[in-house]
Amino acid sequence: MKKILLTATALVAVGAFALTGCSSERGGDTGSGAGEESAKGFAADATIGVALPDKTSENWVLAGQLFTDGLKKAGFKADVQYAPASNTVAEQQNQIQAMVTGGAKVIIIGAKDGKQLSTQVEAARDAGVTVIAYDRLIENTEAVDYYVAFDNFKVGQLQGQALLDGLAERAGHEAPYNIELFSGSPDDANAPVFFNGAMDVLQPKIDDGTLKVVSGQTEIAQTATEGWKPENAQRRMDSLLTSSYGSETLDGVLSPNDTLARAIITSVQGAGKPVPVVTGQDSEVESVKSIMEGVQYSTINKDTTLLVEQSIKMVGQLQKGEEVDVNDTEQYDNGKKVVPAYLLDPIIVTKENAAEAYANVPSLLEIVKSYQ
Ligand code: BGC
Repeated sequence: MKKILLTATALVAVGAFALTGCSSERGGDTGSGAGEESAKGFAADATIGVALPDKTSENWVLAGQLFTDGLKKAGFKADVQYAPASNTVAEQQNQIQAMVTGGAKVIIIGAKDGKQLSTQVEAARDAGVTVIAYDRLIENTEAVDYYVAFDNFKVGQLQGQALLDGLAERAGHEAPYNIELFSGSPDDANAPVFFNGAMDVLQPKIDDGTLKVVSGQTEIAQTATEGWKPENAQRRMDSLLTSSYGSETLDGVLSPNDTLARAIITSVQGAGKPVPVVTGQDSEVESVKSIMEGVQYSTINKDTTLLVEQSIKMVGQLQKGEEVDVNDTEQYDNGKKVVPAYLLDPIIVTKENAAEAYANVPSLLEIVKSYQ
């Protein structure tokens, strides 16, 4: 994806564009069969398919519930499916195919593996179905009409900056700081975007000697966490501690999400070492508690409610044959086309700003307040 080549300056420009108002595009302008169909609209009680990946983090669990309730409230029939934990890719392919056959008018997809859905989304396009990639881009196919997500490169940049800020605050000594890097699952299109966003901030500090990756593992392939599984992150942290931190102190860890952050912290605690500065993402309940207890350093608020609301809004626009709101038509090249996207703004959360960051998320605000 071209996204990974973007500079911070370009992102600022895009952010400014987003602030000045979003552009729209006619559903029929995508050049696909789906677009032409959607320009005419469809029945207000049509079936909308939602295909979500396995429940690797709380945001996916919440999204299923919000889609089921929100689509029904908007008058649609909701067909919300999760890919099962085993045979996940093939099962998700089957689920999407069944939604096409079942007459869904729009299919919203949180891909398990965004590189392996081209046959299914092309079948959807041929049947006049509009495909919206949700949170994770679907790659190497023209048959994706829209992408709706938080700005994932910015998520990575915020994580990188949080790691630097946390080290300055907590390491208890001047630079250089010893750190390790973790990234997400290789089958998730978001994983390199998060990692490259973080490295956009961290690489210059590695180059100038402020940060030292003691293991030497700085390539994404070396840092990957298969399936986003916490046990894989914990095992890698265990082995890094043994191989590289016999006498060295570990000051910080770049973790791409909360589930992995907690696994990394468990590993360090198990080894009887002080907890380093650890980043995260998703604002999972256990991590928000950990942050308030001063253990995990940061997370990201990517409010799932807002992302689902935006997706349902797009469905409503398609249903009426109206223009679909997008605010980015440049960044998300999936290898075959630049997918028109609606990007939401992620927010960094530390103990310091948690109350403010969750001002509109009552359940998390309540947790934060219980520590104040
Ligand atoms: C999502 C993250 C999530 C990860 C694991 C990513 O694609 O954007 O929010 O932590 O998947 O589920």
